[in-house]
Amino acid sequence: MSKAQVVLGTFYGDEGKGKIIDYLSKDADVAVRCSGGSNAGHSIEVDGKKFAFHLIPSGIFHKGTLAVIGNGVVVDPKCLIDEMNELEASGGSTENLYISEKAHIVFPYHIEMDRLLEENRGNGKIGTTIRGIGPAYCDKYERSGIRAEDLISDRLEELLTVNITNKNKIFEMYGHPTVDLQKTLEDYKKYAEILKPHITDTITLLHNALENGKKILCEGAQASLLDIDFGSYPFVTSSNPSIGGVCTGTGLAAKDIGEVYGVLKAYSSRVGSGPYVTEQNNEIGDTIRELGHEYGVTTKRPRRCGWLDLVALKYTVRLNGITGLAINHVDTIGKLPNFKLCVAYNHNGKVTTDFSTNVDFLTNCTPIYEEFEGNFGDISKCKTRVELPENARKYLDRIEELIGVPIKFIGTGAGREAMIVE
Ligand code: IMP
Repeated sequence: MSKAQVVLGTFYGDEGKGKIIDYLSKDADVAVRCSGGSNAGHSIEVDGKKFAFHLIPSGIFHKGTLAVIGNGVVVDPKCLIDEMNELEASGGSTENLYISEKAHIVFPYHIEMDRLLEENRGNGKIGTTIRGIGPAYCDKYERSGIRAEDLISDRLEELLTVNITNKNKIFEMYGHPTVDLQKTLEDYKKYAEILKPHITDTITLLHNALENGKKILCEGAQASLLDIDFGSYPFVTSSNPSIGGVCTGTGLAAKDIGEVYGVLKAYSSRVGSGPYVTEQNNEIGDTIRELGHEYGVTTKRPRRCGWLDLVALKYTVRLNGITGLAINHVDTIGKLPNFKLCVAYNHNGKVTTDFSTNVDFLTNCTPIYEEFEGNFGDISKCKTRVELPENARKYLDRIEELIGVPIKFIGTGAGREAMIVE
């Protein structure tokens, strides 16, 4: 039996998972999304055309690869259908798209609830993407969620009536606009018609694929420091974008998982609120943002930027059992004359490399840096690590040395091909 490969983000998302996923999915028979929803965003360029997808696994672009939206994903059908239309309009096919019958559906009341909750948080805003993700997962765990199998059943009207009646009571209480039951029902019945041929038992599909020796690629969304359990709660997303979410979001067992690739950038970034020890809220951060084009795919928000933090990386490598690292934007960091790498924290006078998401711990930590020289020049044509300039090799060697996991992929430029694979 073959084992599934997994690609996960090791920081706060936006590490450039898409590029690695794109490379690995060329050989994948099945590409599966495990968690999150349309809060994720990946931009892919195929034959000169740019796609900004939120839900459809990138594997869809490779002919013959099955693209699966797993049971752990919360699906906004309108968003998904827009992506399907965009894909088909440019000559692609959605024939190979499968949606788990157990995936929960995002409704307009989830989006309105996300907006209302953020408004009510005042200064304590999480900075969510307002895609209804948190409220959709709340309903899932509260057991009033509506799943894909309900969407295409006769139960839809009854379930939706109960949910919209209940949510509208809350909206009325806060003077927030209510959701129109009839319009929602009409819209979602249309969506159900379109999505019905794609909704299936993806758990059996995935296990049969493994048993038949097929290659499965699990496409991570968001990242470990945004994990509801292991991230910097409450400034996190509402799912488990780390390794556990791969099993619970697909139905694959732990023993079915093989290589786990952890993606990072040669610097770091974060969107939304929350602690960020190596943040450069200054001219350096602004420079990194411009050099790395650090603006959100989903929200267009400027990302907070800073140095790479190996204390946090050691934590997420351990959490996920990462077997190989993929480091993007090595070219970007090399545009600076010199740059820093956080190798430890000073916590109240004590040096540590043990990370904790505890807010009191993080606010009392100052980063300990090592300095590196940049000016790498154009490295986009380098095809092996030894071809990289010495300054770049020193940086990568040091990361490997301190983390103890090999670097398997090195991003050397913006293009899909600008990558060294070791
Ligand atoms: P939510 O997932 O929309 O509830 O947002 C919760 C937090 O996760 C916010 O700080 C978002 O900016 C962040 N977030 C959610 N999805 C992504 C992503 O794909 N990349 C980066 N940050 C994300």
